[in-house]
Amino acid sequence: MSIDTAVDIATPTSDTHLTIPVAIVGFGWMGRVHAQAYARVRHHYPTLRPLPKLSVIADELGDRAQAAAEQFDVASVVTDWRDVIADNTIRAVSVTAPNFLHREIGVAVANAGKHLWIEKPVGLSAADARAVADAASDAGVVTAVGFNYRNVPAVEAAREMIAAGEIGEITHARFRLFSDYAAHPDGALTWRYSRDRGGNGVLGDLASHGADLVWYLLGDIDSLIADTATFITERSKPTGATAGHQLAVGGERGPVENEDYVSAQLRLASGARCVLEASRVSVGEQNSYGFEIHGTKGIVRWDYRRMGELEVGTGGAYQDQSVATRYVGPGAGDYAAFQPGAANPMGYDDLKVIEAARFCASIAGPERLGANILDAVRSAEVLDAMSESVRSGTWVSPVRV
Ligand SMILES: NC(=O)c1ccc[n+]([C@@H]2O[C@H](COP(=O)([O-])OP(=O)(O)OC[C@H]3O[C@@H](n4cnc5c(N)ncnc54)[C@H](O)[C@@H]3O)[C@@H](O)[C@H]2O)c1
Repeated sequence: MSIDTAVDIATPTSDTHLTIPVAIVGFGWMGRVHAQAYARVRHHYPTLRPLPKLSVIADELGDRAQAAAEQFDVASVVTDWRDVIADNTIRAVSVTAPNFLHREIGVAVANAGKHLWIEKPVGLSAADARAVADAASDAGVVTAVGFNYRNVPAVEAAREMIAAGEIGEITHARFRLFSDYAAHPDGALTWRYSRDRGGNGVLGDLASHGADLVWYLLGDIDSLIADTATFITERSKPTGATAGHQLAVGGERGPVENEDYVSAQLRLASGARCVLEASRVSVGEQNSYGFEIHGTKGIVRWDYRRMGELEVGTGGAYQDQSVATRYVGPGAGDYAAFQPGAANPMGYDDLKVIEAARFCASIAGPERLGANILDAVRSAEVLDAMSESVRSGTWVSPVRV
């Protein structure tokens, strides 16, 4: 990618050639990860301009925002995100608030002419993601979306192998996103479990990443049939502020309104067949994300928990073909920005540094790098199709919104 040669054409006011003032709205888990990523961009991409400068933190919890501002040396704290929109010094905004706020805040950010880095799934439905995409397109602002798993250098290497035909024509594939973050029956009934605020549960949380990876690696999905389930149907309401996934014991109980589990069979436009399965209640599965992709001449497998490795089987054996571990290194995606040689493990936060760098480089232009709002629309169309398939019990094609 051309990050190193990017030049600043996006910030016409003072201090412009070096930095772009950014704000973060919502300082829970993801807000913190975005803040760390903005801070580290200069460490890993020293020649990139503009560099982000975190200048405002917004969270409805004033204490949380204030503590974060002290930790990250940020001058301004607000509790109403509209103050970020009204702040003319802010040129780019991270939206890391709960899903139900994505549409309203995302549209407002774009309408104000500010660049937008927004977390997946971007709202509660494809219509929400499309509303943000249209606002961004009308305003001509740059967008980035948190499909961080496609930033993994090994995933990018797998994509190149597949595109180069190293494993032949793709026949079938499995994508899994299993987690235990909601497996504890005492997990607090946060915004995630409400349809109005969290949307379609594990579909938006995890299957959204899966739908993006299927497209990124294998292309368009032609049709699908899906099944969903909610296994833990009630949880205790939290009595105080929450961030991420916390326990709440003994409080008033309320209903879980969205999906714990989804499985889907996909027919790809290429003719390949695919299985995508996601669960937030898999005991014993911690961030067990990955894929296995089969072709007429080989196989490539990847597991997020061994992020820098691919298992690859290629050659002409067909039967009894051996499979070997390939450690990715410089040359695979943005690996070289982090480590000088293969098999030095990268971590989750590094993926967000890559995302932040691509966002800044896209602002500099002219290339658009990384996942953007149109990728969020495409992923959400697949999730909507899954819900429609469950409702109708039939094969469904994703509807373009
Ligand atoms: N890309 C990924 O891998 C990934 C991982 C986790 C979460 N996410 C996404 O990030 C988003 C946030 O998830 P999280 O786990 O950080 O949630 P969280 O609950 O930890 O944090 C949400 C924060 O938003 C704040 N907030 C709520 N309402 C607000 C308002 N009106 N104005 C300002 N702040 C408000 C809360 O106080 C909280 O601090 C979700 O959309 C989620 O899907 C993405």
